[in-house]
Amino acid sequence: MIALNKPLTPDLATLTNYLTQVNDSGWYTNFGPLHQLLTERLEKYLGVENLLLVSNGTLAIQVACKALNINSAITTPFSFVATTSSLLWQGIETAFSDIDEKSYNLCPQALDKALTQDNHYDGIVATHVYGNPCDVNALGEIANKHNKKIVYDAAHAFGVNIAGESVLKFGDAGTLSFHATKVFHTVEGGAIVFKHKADYERAKQLINFGIQANVKLGEPGINAKLNEYQCAVGLTLLDEIEQVIEHRASLFNLYRDELNCIVELPQWHNLANFNGAYMPIYIADKKLQQKVIDALASKNIQSRRYFTPSLDIAYSEQYSFGCEVSHEIAGGVVCLPLHAYMQKKDILQVTNEIKALVV
Ligand SMILES: Cc1ncc(COP(=O)(O)O)c(C=O)c1O
Repeated sequence: MIALNKPLTPDLATLTNYLTQVNDSGWYTNFGPLHQLLTERLEKYLGVENLLLVSNGTLAIQVACKALNINSAITTPFSFVATTSSLLWQGIETAFSDIDEKSYNLCPQALDKALTQDNHYDGIVATHVYGNPCDVNALGEIANKHNKKIVYDAAHAFGVNIAGESVLKFGDAGTLSFHATKVFHTVEGGAIVFKHKADYERAKQLINFGIQANVKLGEPGINAKLNEYQCAVGLTLLDEIEQVIEHRASLFNLYRDELNCIVELPQWHNLANFNGAYMPIYIADKKLQQKVIDALASKNIQSRRYFTPSLDIAYSEQYSFGCEVSHEIAGGVVCLPLHAYMQKKDILQVTNEIKALVV
């Protein structure tokens, strides 16, 4: 069986060492020593500042928007459901603008048109979908022109850089998910990287019930802290993350070389590296798409149609500026197996199955 995804397994000896430190100190959560160590090591590895660990990637989006005073936002319809559901749960007025047909990310021209038509939104929430960075320069210019905040949902983009700069350095905040299925994980967890220290400070208070450093109560907050046991998993996995990303990227490259002229593939940002988070392919013909999924399943190879449906359809009561491209892409996209424990021969087995059907 070739699984769609497999979580990274932490080395038990290293993990036990960290967990013993937690047990000995009796400091299980509330910004403990491992929380501090993981923050420092992640900031160094990612080359960022103002990184706040949180309990998952969904709360990361909610807290980022809250800290940036985003009460209304235009977002992408093509992402995992949490990009939108987090906004709605937060009571944020949400509208959808279409994606680019090549990158599958929020389309700068469509966004500019939407904001020119209706400029009352506070912010833009864009996803670097499948770890492929948005056109951050164009989106940044549009945000400046219309005076909007940007939050990038970078849940898929751990370790991705644009011309050597972390994707997390773009926008007012970038959010990460450390869910078990992600390239790097803490079982459940996440982080927010803020551009400005003041936003980071406010968010740090917000994730601890709104309690201020002097133990006085500030504005109402929530509990979104990452505990020490989960930080121990993160610290253990961080030791091997460079090799993991290198391996995943090599598998991703092999997939793309093999499938390049066989199926449509999203166009990657030309200055970005690959982290091999997902392997999406696009097959417009629905019957052929199903045939591929079935043929793979018959050989015990998992695949999944995601992200579908387009989120403007799932949340049709929210305003949409028109998302026809997203409807097309969400209808035809399939993700193939990709994880750190796959080998090149597994990739070739998958691509050979596809090549036998699609000629
Ligand atoms: C694009 C995107 N945003 C947000 C999330 C939510 O992250 P979490 O599962 O850590 O809450 C996910 C999770 O898979 C995701 O894929």
